[in-house]
Amino acid sequence: MHESDSAGSRDFPVDFLFGSATASLQVEGGDTNNTWYRWCELGKIHDGTHCVRAVDHWNRVDQDIHLMLQLHQQTYRMSLEWSRIEPEPGVFSQEAVRHYRYELAALRTAGIRPLVTLHHFSLPLWFEDAGGWLQPEAPEIFLRYARFIATELIDLVQDWCTINEPNVYLLFGYALGQWPPGYRSIRGYFRAARQLMRIHGMTYQALHEIYRAHERPVQVGAAHHLRVYDPRSERSGPRRWVQAVLCRVLDTVTQWMFVRGMTTAGSQRTADYLGINYYTRDRISWSWNPFRLCTRQTVTAGAPVNDLGWEIYPEGLLRLLRRCSRAFPDLPLYITENGTCDAADRFRERYIIEHLQQVRQALQEGIPVQRYYHWSLMDNFEWLEGESARFGLIAVEYDTQKRRIRNSGFRYAEIARSGNIMY
Ligand code: NOJ
Repeated sequence: MHESDSAGSRDFPVDFLFGSATASLQVEGGDTNNTWYRWCELGKIHDGTHCVRAVDHWNRVDQDIHLMLQLHQQTYRMSLEWSRIEPEPGVFSQEAVRHYRYELAALRTAGIRPLVTLHHFSLPLWFEDAGGWLQPEAPEIFLRYARFIATELIDLVQDWCTINEPNVYLLFGYALGQWPPGYRSIRGYFRAARQLMRIHGMTYQALHEIYRAHERPVQVGAAHHLRVYDPRSERSGPRRWVQAVLCRVLDTVTQWMFVRGMTTAGSQRTADYLGINYYTRDRISWSWNPFRLCTRQTVTAGAPVNDLGWEIYPEGLLRLLRRCSRAFPDLPLYITENGTCDAADRFRERYIIEHLQQVRQALQEGIPVQRYYHWSLMDNFEWLEGESARFGLIAVEYDTQKRRIRNSGFRYAEIARSGNIMY
């Protein structure tokens, strides 16, 4: 036995859970009834690939769970494809329910605890075409789906995530027009934001009611994309001061507004954990482009970056964990996503180690971080970047759908198994 395996010398407590994450649209393939299918058909994907292929996870659940076991995963964050479950308004698909029940039961048999997201960027076409989140009936319609599926899966799922990265989704979909539904409207952004925050709170209540009625425990939260915003200029002076103000404004309207709004509604608690998706930091300076919220985002000069040009900044994770635990001292923190785009697997291992070192530090400071989900279990369809952007612990050859665990994946598996970073 490795010396660091012995109890007492672990970096992470025994009940800390290591896992990985995916989203239905990005991995399943085959569904044509959702907003991203149409976006791909419109030719919006930079590398010309299409989400209908993805990595065929829909047909490879057993194989993929077997790979999770090889990676010593203790938990798995996945999402449900609403358009499969409710292909037409008010009509639910028993086939989709059977499929997800099969997957969740298989995960549980494998000893892997599921965390299930209800909305991860893709929507049924019928919902979008009727006005999406801005239609007055949106809360009622979403709750119908949420209540239905939570009841169907009640014996298999204890941990729910209502909405993934509402800030990113609304910024790209409602303000910048780059994702479906393709709106460029600041007003639309704020209206939809208010609506999503409300819907989150209502879903939180609804799921708690259902589980209470069945005398089962449940945890409900959301996954927030949080970046660190720092002024571009290193030197103090009026320029840096303006940039710092901009950082604050940007942070409030694109991040913190959602964290607050979806954690407490007034004085009422609406989250049982706080989910943090952390990837990078942006350096902020002024721009005259109002559609970009008057900001220009750059990376720190000379900083390491991933394949997509995102700065690699592990300290940012600790800064955010400290901030979140200060704001919500009694709330467990889950890192619902953290990972990097690295097709050649050159720096992923180091990325994982350096970010987990920050988590270890947070734990030493008494910050209640309880889970870490690596993004992603396997390569998948990365939205506008398509298949070219590779975030997986497992490499996938799209033509053959062959899977191969990357070296960084084996390294992460060792950390998950031993509870030790060994650095
Ligand atoms: C966050 C999103 O939730 C996920 O869908 C995406 O693939 C990763 N970030 C990487 O960009």
